[in-house]
Amino acid sequence: MQTLSVDIGGTHVKASVLGPRGRMIHERIQADTPHDLTPRGLVEIIAGLAERLPHYDRVSAGFPGVVHDGVVRTAANLGTKRFAGFNLERALAKRLGAPARVCNDADMQGLGVIRGRGVEMVITLGTGFGTALFQNGRLAPHLELAHHNFRHDRTYEDELGDAALKRVGRATWMRRLVDAIAALRALTSFDHLYVGGGNSRLVKLRLPRDITVVDNSAGILGGVRLWRHGSEEARQQTRRKR
Ligand code: BGC
Repeated sequence: MQTLSVDIGGTHVKASVLGPRGRMIHERIQADTPHDLTPRGLVEIIAGLAERLPHYDRVSAGFPGVVHDGVVRTAANLGTKRFAGFNLERALAKRLGAPARVCNDADMQGLGVIRGRGVEMVITLGTGFGTALFQNGRLAPHLELAHHNFRHDRTYEDELGDAALKRVGRATWMRRLVDAIAALRALTSFDHLYVGGGNSRLVKLRLPRDITVVDNSAGILGGVRLWRHGSEEARQQTRRKR
């Protein structure tokens, strides 16, 4: 069983094919994310990447926004107006001819890196600020902490997204990150925090033992676990809400 795994980001769409245990069997490839990306355009970019990769039996994709039952609800950095209501899961399954599952990008990244013990939190530092929370390996309901107030009437994403990094520079951004981690620790009492995303490579701090920086390729490693439980739980939670 091989899984085409896709990490949809604000600057790049990355993909690889994972073997049955979640290992990449081909190097990760990527395409640029255009500024005016449309839902159909996104599906075509993914189809183009898929053509350059080995055979797959199913598709997993992490999307940078809220996704319920495969349908996009928000897309802060790609354009909620264009994407809200788009059934990305169905569109990918149809275009790629294989069953597909889509979840939030940070949730998918988390599924790839957590150890399954205690309260584990994942933050991703990229165009946006992604978060995911797990308890003993079970995915918690997705919280959009990115757009929640962090301080000074500004959200975590306002303070720590890529635009903020470019605006204030690395040193200030890093100080903000330290404060944000303290706030998230107080909020969740995490046993372990994983820091991923493209800008995590800039994090050159002496970190306590309960914080690990993970490679950006982790964004796609959750593609296999998504089929085992992550999405199922996300689905049940959505159903319960209705
Ligand atoms: C979105 C999140 C996403 C994060 C990282 C935020 O702007 O609202 O859903 O996980 O960016 O891509």
